[in-house]
Amino acid sequence: MPSIRRVARAGQTTEILEEHPYVGGEAPTRPSVTVSYAQTLDGRVATATGESKWISCPDSLRFAHEMRADNDAVLVGAGTVCKDDPRLTVRHVPGRSPLRVVVDSTLRTPPDAAVLADGAAPGTVLAVTDRAPAKRRERALSLGATVLRLPSDAYGRVDLAALLGELVAIGIGSVMVEGGATLITGFFRTGLVDRVAVCVAPKILGDGIEAIGDLGIRDLSQSLTLADVAVEPYGVDLILSGRVVYPDGVPDRG
Ligand SMILES: NC(=O)c1ccc[n+]([C@@H]2O[C@H](COP(=O)([O-])OP(=O)(O)OC[C@H]3O[C@@H](n4cnc5c(N)ncnc54)[C@H](OP(=O)(O)O)[C@@H]3O)[C@@H](O)[C@H]2O)c1
Repeated sequence: MPSIRRVARAGQTTEILEEHPYVGGEAPTRPSVTVSYAQTLDGRVATATGESKWISCPDSLRFAHEMRADNDAVLVGAGTVCKDDPRLTVRHVPGRSPLRVVVDSTLRTPPDAAVLADGAAPGTVLAVTDRAPAKRRERALSLGATVLRLPSDAYGRVDLAALLGELVAIGIGSVMVEGGATLITGFFRTGLVDRVAVCVAPKILGDGIEAIGDLGIRDLSQSLTLADVAVEPYGVDLILSGRVVYPDGVPDRG
């Protein structure tokens, strides 16, 4: 059943009609998933050397923090933690910081990463597989983080559907996937994305890290499309958001 979520922003309240992943009217099997990132006009989320701070303008940065405040959890890949060392907290707007989840098969997040250091660890979940050495798991646990050992996907990485199943079980109803490109691609490949909210900045990079990698689409008619599209200016950037429609329904994850 769809539900109404109210989003407070700059003195106004917007109502968002949300489709939750229900099966036969039962409890949701996973949280709703919104992918959100900032890209250049030519679809890059970082330069070829991995620099992404900042593609978007300060107004859009506020939008990203509003999104964090509006979701129960924010998910990033281990690549983003190792490259950018983000705090993943809400700072530019009022609101509560979401649970931080790092998708990190081998637990390569360093103990001094911002998501673990200075008392941050108790608000952080490290989603790992059996490939994460016991010593690293123990270290993260001793800092106060939660370590979730999950099954692997076909590539030996964290099974994203299993991760979402664990998150919904602990009461997480909505997640925001903030990047980077590899994690975002993984979510699209498995058909687990409900909505996108993409910040498009008036910049061109040429070579760089593409926002979304190969999804196996060779025919335009197989493109994923957006429904209920909204376009909002934030400073010089545009935020384009909408519900993801898969051409043949959600892909088989087997
Ligand atoms: N513009 C933006 O909005 C934005 C936002 C975030 C990041 N970025 C940029 O993106 C770059 C980092 O992106 P990235 O692609 O290198 O790293 P990433 O997407 O942050 O992390 C990818 C890593 O996550 C781990 N992972 C575990 N399970 C996975 C699964 N099922 N699917 C996908 N990944 C899984 C893998 O590492 P293991 O195998 O070790 O587990 C994988 O290499 C940086 O340059 C950063 O600045 C830009």
